[in-house]
Amino acid sequence: MVSIKKERRGLFVAVTGTPGAGKSTFAKEVSDAIKIPLIEINSILESYQLFSKIDDDGAKVAMIKPLTKKIKELAEENLKNGAVLIVGHLACELDIKYDIAIIVRCSLESLEERLSERGYEEGKLKENLMAEALDYCGVAAQERSDEVLEVDNSSDRKEVMDYLKARLEGVQTHPPELKQINRMPELLKFIESGKLP
Ligand SMILES: Nc1ncnc2c1ncn2[C@@H]1O[C@H](COP(=O)(O)OP(=O)(O)O)[C@@H](O)[C@H]1O
Ligand SMILES: [Mg+2]
Repeated sequence: MVSIKKERRGLFVAVTGTPGAGKSTFAKEVSDAIKIPLIEINSILESYQLFSKIDDDGAKVAMIKPLTKKIKELAEENLKNGAVLIVGHLACELDIKYDIAIIVRCSLESLEERLSERGYEEGKLKENLMAEALDYCGVAAQERSDEVLEVDNSSDRKEVMDYLKARLEGVQTHPPELKQINRMPELLKFIESGKLP
């Protein structure tokens, strides 16, 4: 006899985006408001020493395979009881399927300010501005989730929060209509002023 046993499994949500875009802030708000456990990829990378080396600029280079394994393990433990949220710019580099991927987006102007404040050197700053302009995380997320929501850091956050809340409560609902994000005009301005590439 074939037994069809469907495991009850919670919703697996990833919050990702360019460094400085506002991921940690948003994920923490969601986790606090909706009371779901939050796994921070960077903290796991640190606590389990899952990096191969430290760059010249101090960035830790992740060992993607063991990191993926560890995150999956921790997430599965939580998913038995309900939803889990993971946050980090590496979320889309991990070979994991998410029920929902949220990309936190930010204007190039704010990002430049935030990353300069964090002391990013010029090359790293430009690389990240370019990643935001070209929506690197959003494009990568398409492979990781059938539901990708891009939320501008300066608007639409409440809509996404309410939607997640509804989904987590099992309410049948449509994803919110979010503002279209197009960084091209800003990218052109940055190129014209010599800030990029
Ligand atoms: N919605 C927002 N509006 C204004 N500032 C924000 C917002 N979200 C985050 N910030 C600020 O931007 C900086 C980067 O946010 P953070 O959440 O640490 O980004 P990330 O985790 O993507 O690197 C922080 O100083 C934070 O206070
Ligand atoms: Mg962060």
